[in-house]
Amino acid sequence: MEKKISTYLFSCIIFFVALVLLSSPVTSQEVEDESEFDYNKYGERGPDRWGELKPEWSACSNGKMQSPIDLLNERVEVVSYLGRLKRSYKPSNATLKNRGHDMMLSFKSEAGSIEINGTEYELKQMHWHSPSEHTLDGFRFDLELHMVHESQDGRAAVVGIMYKIGRPDSFLLSLRDQLEKITGTSEKETPVGVIDPREVKIGSRKYYRYLGSLTTPPCTENVVWTIVRKVRTVTKEQVRLLRVAVHDDSNTNARPRQPINMRTVQLYRPNEKENY
Ligand SMILES: *[C@@H]1O[C@H](CO)[C@@H](O)[C@H](O)[C@H]1NC(C)=O
Ligand SMILES: *[C@@H]1O[C@H](CO)[C@@H](O)[C@H](O)[C@H]1NC(C)=O
Repeated sequence: MEKKISTYLFSCIIFFVALVLLSSPVTSQEVEDESEFDYNKYGERGPDRWGELKPEWSACSNGKMQSPIDLLNERVEVVSYLGRLKRSYKPSNATLKNRGHDMMLSFKSEAGSIEINGTEYELKQMHWHSPSEHTLDGFRFDLELHMVHESQDGRAAVVGIMYKIGRPDSFLLSLRDQLEKITGTSEKETPVGVIDPREVKIGSRKYYRYLGSLTTPPCTENVVWTIVRKVRTVTKEQVRLLRVAVHDDSNTNARPRQPINMRTVQLYRPNEKENY
């Protein structure tokens, strides 16, 4: 009798393990629990080792189109045909989530989308890296916002905005109380009510476009990157608040630059006559 029960239990466990393995979606999602890797350059879980930590993270080491990169100005191809960034966002309920190395603002219902080359990518979440991950002509800025979008067939498009220290960023200002609240708790996720993604200011039509990857494991490739050309501003205090809120003992969460490997980087610049 006992033997039968344990055999039964055993098959149940096998069944559930198989179910979990088979049902994990093949999408471009970033991991939600970041405790398995870190940004310690010399550590065992540092950026140079990410690809060895799990088989499904191998692109972090073997990938040939990884992000971030330097958007070196003289190698950039200036084009006008890419067209203006088509954003159609709408207010949506969101939560602030401490993922271990960053704060993620995650949308719980439809927050609208962007359209790139005929494909619609829906806004899923945004999070911040400090200092910036991408560099401009070798120059690293103080903060980089990533707005992560996903198409129906699971491809990702990320819009990046870089900030240097200066005047406060109004969007972060509107999140200050919630960020302070989550800093003081060990809660991993708190609802923050309705957030309007249109409040994230871009302030420029020009942007860089290239094909890269997620900058955290699993480092999934074929991510369409759009980096806004204009560098915006943020206060030191706002950058600090985003860092202390995550309670890790690192001061940074920026992945080192990756090889460009013959990729082209385009810079969209509107034609004079489109420039209204
Ligand atoms: C946000 O959630 C509240 C409470 O569930 C709901 O009443 C409201 O309609 C939601 N707003 C949006 C924009 O989804
Ligand atoms: C845009 O889409 C077309 C058709 O799907 C495709 O052939 C082309 O390569 C795409 N261009 C870029 C830059 O992705």
